[in-house]
Order: sequence, then structure tokens, then C-alpha cells
Amino acid sequence: MRRRLPGIRHPRHPLSLVLGLLLGVGAPAAARAEGPSWERPRVPIEAPAPASIGAFSAMVCAACHPDIAAEWALSTHGHAWTDRQFQAERSKDPAVAWLCDNCHTPVARQQAVLSEATGDVRKPRQTPNAQFDATLREEGITCLTCHWREGGIAAINADAVAPHPLVYAPELRSEDTCTVCHQAVARVGDTLVCTFNTGEEWRQAAPGKTCPECHMPRVTRPMAVGGPVRTGGKHLWPGGLVPKVPWTPAQAAQFADWKPGARIRVVAPPQTQPGAEVLVGVYLEHAGAGHRVPTGDPERYLLVTAEAVDAGGKVLARLTHRAGQVWKWWPKAERVSDNRLSPGESRVFPLRFVRPADGGPVTVRARLEHHRISPENAAHHNLGDYPTMRVVERLETVVGAP
Ligand code: HEC
Ligand code: HEC
Ligand code: HEC
Ligand code: HEC
Ligand code: HEC
Repeated sequence: MRRRLPGIRHPRHPLSLVLGLLLGVGAPAAARAEGPSWERPRVPIEAPAPASIGAFSAMVCAACHPDIAAEWALSTHGHAWTDRQFQAERSKDPAVAWLCDNCHTPVARQQAVLSEATGDVRKPRQTPNAQFDATLREEGITCLTCHWREGGIAAINADAVAPHPLVYAPELRSEDTCTVCHQAVARVGDTLVCTFNTGEEWRQAAPGKTCPECHMPRVTRPMAVGGPVRTGGKHLWPGGLVPKVPWTPAQAAQFADWKPGARIRVVAPPQTQPGAEVLVGVYLEHAGAGHRVPTGDPERYLLVTAEAVDAGGKVLARLTHRAGQVWKWWPKAERVSDNRLSPGESRVFPLRFVRPADGGPVTVRARLEHHRISPENAAHHNLGDYPTMRVVERLETVVGAP
């Protein structure tokens, strides 16, 4: 039986996810594949390692697919278990850690204990896993998460011949490969919520491309050592580009051709008089992402800051705008507000000041930052020097005489 991926093509009402959990629907192993995404390991324990390879690890694949494996190792998927923020949050509530593991370490062998839902999310039915592989767990969202099929490894080229079994699976390039984890909205009790809505945002935006078509940009090269040159997809899955561990300049350069999903613009009047009031427009615009920006994790936000400074360094005007969600987690998890950018949206903020009477120039500096987590929350989890943000863009415009 091929896995059926519950994706947005087969939408599930959030309520049915919750009821599924509460009633223990889908508990028997056979029915597990139909259950909510967090109830089951996605790659069954019975699956043998692909013949002629003899192992599941990305390290084994790396011998013949070195470029792809190196990209994956840099990616956020490759850090889904080792991520410091993940580990900090996972340890807060060990009773529900099994839910986290089903998305962050989805291959059954990555889990020390296999869990099945019962009526109580805090009391899953658990059995020790004799095939547990601690090294494989370190790999987080490893190759076989997406590539495992009953008969072999999912391939996109029907004519590929490999030393391991291949299954032609053109659907690998569809959104289902991604929404199985990136579309999960559910609530259990007051404080446990799952808020990943990227699949639904994508469906509404209808950008005309699937997730892999944007997030795995085209690259032409041999897909395997000694294999023919073909066109495939890079395995970096860039997004907001805040790394999980600091990148070296050479690693950062791998993401150089990725265009951010939001940008800023500064529009100043071409001519101004000394002593006159000046109105500068600072724009924040959605720029081609296939969903809202930011998407996914509810703690992410964009921050726009701008200031107008005179020749002597005096700040004449300043503005700050935060685009993101605000949640209250206690005593009941609730979304307080949400002003993320929607596809096609453009916002303008006025920066008003009076140009100095002496006719000196005024410099307008604007910048856009992408934050994965606020400094306060990073401190709360003791994340130390964990990278939490990146400056996406810096602009400088001089108003008046040069
Ligand atoms: C001993 C070398 C070797 C090892 C080890 C190996 N592969 Fe392959 N693989 C190949 C060759 C050769 C091809 C065929 C390439 C071609 O025709 O372009 C291939 C093809 C593939 C394809 C299909 C490419 C397509 O055309 O769509 C995928 C996916 C794949 N391998 C994944 C993996 C994964 C995942 C692992 C680790 C579990 C792995 N491979 C381990 C040599 C290897
Ligand atoms: C098995 C679950 C799973 C699947 C399948 C999956 N993802 Fe992810 N994805 C995750 C998790 C978990 C993270 C975050 C890991 C972390 O931050 O620790 C993530 C992170 C990301 C990010 C964020 C990168 C960043 O810099 O923060 C992007 C973009 C992304 N995934 C795109 C995709 C795309 C595109 C696909 C389909 C080809 C896909 N994902 C399939 C679970 C999954
Ligand atoms: C999050 C899902 C996901 C993970 C994890 C993943 N792949 Fe892929 N892989 C894909 C998708 C989707 C494609 C098709 C890309 C395209 O459009 O060409 C693909 C394509 C390939 C191909 C065909 C060549 C190409 O570049 O398109 C090979 C070979 C391959 N993957 C090997 C690997 C190996 C080895 C790993 C682990 C180091 C891995 N994949 C991890 C989703 C994944
Ligand atoms: C039209 C291209 C496009 C499509 C289609 C698309 N994305 Fe994105 N996605 C982007 C861009 C660009 C960004 C970067 C946004 C930014 O700069 O903050 C992004 C960001 C993300 C992020 C957030 C990463 C972060 O670090 O904030 C995730 C997760 C993600 N996409 C997943 C998906 C999934 C899942 C799908 C399919 C349901 C999808 N994307 C479809 C272009 C696309
Ligand atoms: C339904 C699948 C799923 C489950 C269950 C899940 N996650 Fe995730 N997690 C994701 C995806 C997908 C992302 C990437 C979000 C994004 O970037 O849009 C992610 C990202 C994260 C991140 C990184 C956020 C960032 O901004 O980089 C942390 C930390 C995290 N998850 C912790 C947890 C913890 C702790 C649990 C258990 C309580 C958990 N997750 C359960 C799918 C899941």
C-alpha cells in the first residue's frame, strides 16, 4: 500500500483532527496512515532498508549523492532534531513530546518509543522500538522521509537506473510532499495548539507553482556520482534564511540566488526646499512568496525600521512596524492579532520631517529584518548565541542637496 498523504487536496476539518485525537480514532496500526499527521510515524517500522544500500541514513546516500546530501545537511530539515530551540521547547512538556517527534523525526526507526493515540493526548499507547537508531534520529527530516515508498526510493525520472530500487513518483513534486507537515491546525485542551497553515494559505494564494517548485530551485548536474547530467531540485529549502547554526560565508553563498518573500522601498520627493515639510513613503511589500509572509511558526515576524537623520546626526523622524502574529499562550492559547503580509499586499508608512533651514541633506535609512523568535523568547529558552534574525534589506536615500 502506498502512503496516502493527508494534504490539502483531501482537507480535514480541524475539529476532526481534535476529535480524532480525543476519541483515539486511527489507533490500530493499519489505520494510522489515515490519522492526523502527528499521530503516526510517517515511514513504517517494517520498511526494510533499501536493498543494496543496507541502511537508512543520509550519510549512506551521501556517498553517491554528495551535492544533494551537503545541501540537505545545511537545511533546516537536516536540523529538525538538533535545533536548539526545538530541544528547548520539546523538553518543556515531555508528555506530549511524542507529537513533536512524529513531525521532526518522522521515520519510525528515529523514535526510541513508538506512540499511538488514545483518548488522552498525554497518555499515548507506547511500545519500545527495538529498531531505534539514535544516529538516524540526529538527522531529523532525513532523505527517506520524503523518498521512501513501499517498493523503493521515490524518483522523478522514469528512466533512472540505480544500485537501489527506484519507484517512479512524479507526485513527489506536488505540494502533498510538504503539506503533510506544513498544514496542521488543531487544538487539544487550552494550551496545546498546532498552527501551521501554510498549505491553506498557498491554496488561497494560488501562485501557480507547488511548494517544491519554489523551494527547490532548478539545478542542472549529475544527480549521482557518475550518473548523467539532469535537471532537478536543490535540497536547501530556503525560507526566511535565518540559519539554525551560523553559516560560513561559503555556506551562506549557496542561498545567494534565493529572493526574499518581502521587500521594502523608499519613495522620496525628487526636490525639496530648505525649511519645507517633507513626506517620505516607506513601503513594505509582499514579493512573490506563495503564501503569507511570514508563514508557519507563529513566533516569526518582519520588522521594518526607518529614520531620517540630518547632516549633524540628529534624528528628525523615526518609524517601526512589526508584521506578524501575536499570541497569548496562557491560561488559554489564543491568537490576539495577525497582520502578516498577504500575497500581493503593499503597505506604506509615512516618514514626516522638516528639512533643515540651512539646506543640509537629510539621509533616510530603512531596513527590513526577518525574526524567527523575539529576543525575549530566545532568552526565556536560554538559547544563547542561537541566530534569531537576519537583516533582509538595508536602503539609504538622501533627500535634498548631495
Ligand atoms: C552506490 C551509490 C548510491 C547510493 C548509496 C544511493 N544512490 Fe540513489 N542513485 C544512485 C544512482 C547511480 C542513481 C541514478 C541517477 C540518474 O540516473 O540520474 C540514483 C538515483 C536516485 C534517485 C532518483 C533520481 C531521479 O531520477 O529521480 C533518488 C531519489 C535517490 N537515488 C535517492 C537516494 C537515497 C535517498 C539514498 C540513501 C538512502 C541513495 N539514493 C543512495 C546511486 C546511489
Ligand atoms: C516530515 C515533516 C516535514 C515535511 C514532509 C516537510 N517539512 Fe519543511 N519543515 C519541517 C520542520 C519540522 C521544519 C522546521 C525544523 C526546525 O526549525 O527545527 C521545516 C522547515 C521548513 C522550512 C523553513 C526553513 C527555514 O529556514 O526556517 C521550509 C521553507 C520548508 N520546511 C519547506 C518545505 C517544503 C517545500 C517541503 C516539501 C518539499 C517540506 N518542507 C516538507 C517539517 C517538514
Ligand atoms: C522534504 C522532502 C525531501 C527530503 C528530506 C529529501 N528530498 Fe530528495 N527530493 C525531494 C523532491 C520534492 C524532489 C524533486 C525535486 C524536483 O523538482 O526536481 C527530490 C529529488 C531528489 C533527487 C532527484 C534529483 C533532483 O535533484 O531532483 C534525488 C537524487 C534526491 N532527491 C535525493 C535525496 C537525498 C540523498 C536526500 C537526503 C540527503 C533527499 N533527497 C532528501 C524531496 C526531498
Ligand atoms: C511562489 C513561490 C512559493 C511557493 C509556491 C511557496 N513558497 Fe514558501 N516561501 C517562498 C518565499 C519567497 C519565502 C520566504 C519568505 C520570507 O522572505 O520571509 C517562503 C517562506 C516559506 C516558509 C517560512 C520559512 C521562514 O524561514 O520563515 C515556509 C515554512 C514555507 N515557505 C513553506 C512552503 C510550503 C509548505 C509551500 C506549499 C504549500 C510553499 N512554501 C509554497 C516562496 C514560495
Ligand atoms: C504537524 C507537524 C508538527 C508537529 C506535531 C510539531 N512540529 Fe514543530 N515544526 C513543524 C513545521 C512544519 C515547522 C516549520 C514551521 C515553519 O517554518 O513554518 C516546525 C518548526 C518548529 C520549530 C522552529 C521554529 C522556527 O521558527 O524556526 C520549533 C522550535 C518546533 N517546531 C518545536 C516543536 C515542538 C516542541 C513540538 C511538540 C510540542 C512540535 N514542534 C510539533 C511541524 C510540526
